[in-house]
Amino acid sequence: MGGPGTSGMREVPRIRREATDPVPSAESGRRAAWDRLAREIHACRRCPLGSRRTHAVVYRGTLSPRVVFVGEAPGAAEDRAGIPFVGRSGRRLDAAIARIGLAPSDWGVLNLLKCRPPSNRFDRAAAHTCRPFLDRQLALLRPNGLVTLGASALRALDPRAPPVLEAAGVPRTVGPRWLFPLIHPAAALRSRRLTERWEHDVDALGRWLIAG
Ligand code: URA
Repeated sequence: MGGPGTSGMREVPRIRREATDPVPSAESGRRAAWDRLAREIHACRRCPLGSRRTHAVVYRGTLSPRVVFVGEAPGAAEDRAGIPFVGRSGRRLDAAIARIGLAPSDWGVLNLLKCRPPSNRFDRAAAHTCRPFLDRQLALLRPNGLVTLGASALRALDPRAPPVLEAAGVPRTVGPRWLFPLIHPAAALRSRRLTERWEHDVDALGRWLIAG
């Protein structure tokens, strides 16, 4: 074995930390990983939607949420703003969240797709390409539970779930966390029956959150 020391490995000079240096916390590491991920999403051109968008749409909410709402894809308003659920569906979602008493420090919202699909038609191939971003977001956010909004989000996160109208309003368990399906807030705007269903299931979500 050559050189100084007994391990045979080259000695790496130690950086002396002064007492006043900030110690990097797990929290600042998570924040940095989140910022890197957001930059990757904004630069992504892995599918054709990437070159058609105005903005990629990453997330809205706290980085330490109890609950993450998962929608399908940005619409026109979200594509313009670069923020999820800021249009008509977003107003309905925000009203529901206020109604069940979630504080801003409790929740966040994101989509399966980060870029707007043409004519707002959900694009399954793009969702497959985009999926690693969603998985990395959820691994960093570490929520206790997910609320899926609509059929595509439910199918993506719980492929064994029954159709959304059967599943909505009843909590499920998927891996380490609970999942609470809702119909999509845009569907709730379509008919009186669906509005009532939305309100009924949102109230059930509120009770579930209080019980948990
Ligand atoms: N619908 C969605 O699924 N997501 C949005 O961000 C807006 C509308």
